[in-house]
Amino acid sequence: MKGVILAGGLGTRLYPLTKITNKHLLPLYDRPMIYYPIEALVNAGISDIMIVTGGRKSGDFLSLLGNGSDFGLKHLNYTYQKGEGGIAEALGLCEHWAKGEDICVILGDNIIERNIAAAVRDFTAQGGGAKIMLKKVHDPERFGVAELHGDKVVSIEEKPKAPKSDLAVIGIYMYDGRVFEYIKTLEPSDRGELEITDVNNHYIRDGSMTYEVLEGWWTDAGTFDSLLKASNLVAQGGANRVDP
Ligand code: G1P
Repeated sequence: MKGVILAGGLGTRLYPLTKITNKHLLPLYDRPMIYYPIEALVNAGISDIMIVTGGRKSGDFLSLLGNGSDFGLKHLNYTYQKGEGGIAEALGLCEHWAKGEDICVILGDNIIERNIAAAVRDFTAQGGGAKIMLKKVHDPERFGVAELHGDKVVSIEEKPKAPKSDLAVIGIYMYDGRVFEYIKTLEPSDRGELEITDVNNHYIRDGSMTYEVLEGWWTDAGTFDSLLKASNLVAQGGANRVDP
């Protein structure tokens, strides 16, 4: 399984913090934000990783991370997203590199307490399709929200005004090689972006989407409040804990 970290975008919700740098280079307690998703993939046994950067200061990722030796890696891959075309557009840039293999995608501002190794193993065993991870939240209208019927996800709505559940779709997604064909069929949403939620709904419609509820805490870090929350959670107990 290959890993993709999406670290592009202009981070406008964090202006002026992101006026002169990329959101994923901002400090999150004692390390730059991008360290956490890299560590999450490495802890799940994934060592072939592509980082999609963009916007301002994308060259700083190379200066900071090099070939990934801080994470025990021999090599890191980088690619560049122009502008703010959305998460699905950023992922589409990885097609030539993924070469049809299964991929685990993590948004660069999603921070988790525990390890996703078991979910990655389950996805490999399911033999194709897709898997999303869900987490109960008190503010689902900020996220993609899953509607469940029994043990099936039947729909996902992006930032709904009237959420059908309190289960947020977190920014960790596993896909088979068909993901790139689905991305090519997408149209921009009202916010002018290709939405990962639309990709996930394709897999729901074709009947090959599974889900797991994430254990341990999860937060994004793309707003002032969530950036502070993420820093506090990391300071209190650490992210990417390897103990069970
Ligand atoms: C994105 C996704 C959303 C998901 C969230 C997780 O939202 O579009 O479905 O729940 O990440 O962090 P964004 O941060 O781009 O608004």
